[in-house]
Amino acid sequence: MQGKGQPNIYLIGFMGVGKSAVGRNLARAMRMQFIDSDWAIEQVAGKSISKIFKEDGEARFRELEREFVETGHPETGVVVACGGGLPVQPGMSDLLKQKGVVVCLFARPETIMARTIGNPKRPLLNVENPEERITELMAEREPIYMKTGIGVTTDGRGIAEVVSNITRIYRR
Ligand code: S3P
Repeated sequence: MQGKGQPNIYLIGFMGVGKSAVGRNLARAMRMQFIDSDWAIEQVAGKSISKIFKEDGEARFRELEREFVETGHPETGVVVACGGGLPVQPGMSDLLKQKGVVVCLFARPETIMARTIGNPKRPLLNVENPEERITELMAEREPIYMKTGIGVTTDGRGIAEVVSNITRIYRR
């Protein structure tokens, strides 16, 4: 059976690993709906991620992420691309695992740096030394990502290959 009624798939991982691009293609392949948590939060807040951080603070953004996971999206039939900090919040890793299949995408720090630095959607990297910040945040978060999701690397792989790896994991 495909589509509605299937357990959700949550894509987690660091900023810039390709969760949204992979998620959109995966949803098409699985005939499921696609939701990006950042996009959903922007709709609820009525403003962009960078404005939420600037005007309301990171703590408010994290609250909106929690609300999104708890009640803000369908319980089945959806591929969710999760913001990079979402699974790192207390209790969130277990909650995601209860709700569906969690897949963690990985990429090399250089790939991540090239994709994220200077992008306004990533206010956490709007600091004097974003490379150092990425290295620190990755060290802090990777153990949590690894214990939460089944790991899939995106380095040197096209989207179609990553999608087919995930569909195999989902079906086994
Ligand atoms: C964040 C990642 C971003 C976005 C926000 C915070 C994080 O999403 O949620 O800027 O804490 O890692 P992406 O992972 O889609 O870049």
